[in-house]
Amino acid sequence: MRNILVTGGAGFIGSHLVRLLVNKYPEYRIVNLDKLTYAGNLANLRDVEGCPNYVFVKADICDFPAMQRIFSEYGIDGVIHLAAESHVDRSIKDPFSFARTNVMGTLSLLQAAKLAWEGSYDDKLFYHVSTDEVYGSLPADGGFFTEKTKYDPHSPYSASKASSDHFVRAYHDTYGLPIKLSNCSNNYGAFQFPEKLIPLFINNIRHNKPLPVYGSGENVRDWLFVEDHARAIDLIFHEGKVGETYNIGGFNEWRNIDLIKVIIRVTDRLLGRPEGASLPLITYVADRAGHDVRYAIDSTKLKEELGWEPSLQFEEGIEKTVKWYLENQQWLDDVTSGEYEKYYENMYGRES
Ligand code: NAD
Ligand code: DAU
Repeated sequence: MRNILVTGGAGFIGSHLVRLLVNKYPEYRIVNLDKLTYAGNLANLRDVEGCPNYVFVKADICDFPAMQRIFSEYGIDGVIHLAAESHVDRSIKDPFSFARTNVMGTLSLLQAAKLAWEGSYDDKLFYHVSTDEVYGSLPADGGFFTEKTKYDPHSPYSASKASSDHFVRAYHDTYGLPIKLSNCSNNYGAFQFPEKLIPLFINNIRHNKPLPVYGSGENVRDWLFVEDHARAIDLIFHEGKVGETYNIGGFNEWRNIDLIKVIIRVTDRLLGRPEGASLPLITYVADRAGHDVRYAIDSTKLKEELGWEPSLQFEEGIEKTVKWYLENQQWLDDVTSGEYEKYYENMYGRES
């Protein structure tokens, strides 16, 4: 029996990972620890709620005594740490909450793991799920982030994730804590909070609302289907080398404006509108402060060492994603109206 603590399991990527682990490893106990911030939504996990190997615990990773209790109560021997403040625009407005959760929260978890496991690190693992944004920005005309690229974060979000990565490595180098890290590119798919580009634009097209394109729309992001990310995390957790970092990405770069046109085309078609009818909704707005020009991940190490490859072509992934949001309009309406909060307020109470 393994007792795996997944933090941030009620969020976008975390919910896909929890579903994969609960279904694939009935012999494990998967403990989903989440504070249920605005981004955490237990409706993302209704299909696994009743599974005997699934437990939900509402807690804040910054609450160190609570982390110690949880390690002891559930006999945690593996951690997959995703809980974070994740939206760059929010980090520009409120950097403190990013330092609190992403830096201090990660430190609190690391210390709880160290104290719980000290004396016997055998078969223990602390795995931190991180982002390619720690590497900074690439020029428009070339280059890739590899595992050896020097950290150069620009936003408060990426600075907080870079700091948390450094703490994870420091616990390995100083105390011998068994750790792994991965740094992934932009994810897309079901259950993503509609503040992020793809679900926000699908929702706005649905409501004929403006589509705010930051700056020139020429910034480049490297997009990966979220279920492929979850598969990579599972593989790295089980088969990656302790102390190592793996980059995760699908070699799938898009200029924002080109991606937006694809989203418009697919959404219009699936809504039964003439393809391109929503193009006039495109509205160029002021650029994001410190907007990184381009991200592009080289995931050769993951492919060569562990045999991981993305399973979906981008066209197929986008079609699936747009379809999901249109078939789950209630989910979108609930998260945008705040309805979903009532669901977990009733079940677990709520912190301010
Ligand atoms: P998300 O915002 O959808 O989910 C974050 C989850 O963490 C939520 O359920 C939230 O309630 C929980 N949380 C926040 N603060 C907490 C706290 N103090 N204590 C306990 N739980 C807390 O984020 P996501 O997009 O699913 O990202 C998950 C992780 O993956 C993050 O660490 C992020 O940096 C990383 N990542 C995301 C992407 C992406 O494209 N979304 C890409 C690479 C890496
Ligand atoms: O690269 C991995 C990162 O990807 C993760 O670590 C972050 O948690 C995740 O949020 C994501 O960060 P981005 O800032 O790249 O994602 P976002 O969806 O916010 O924006 C994607 C691009 O689209 C970016 O260049 C900004 C632009 N954009 C975004 C929004 C929300 C717009 O032009 N208009 C918008 O309204």
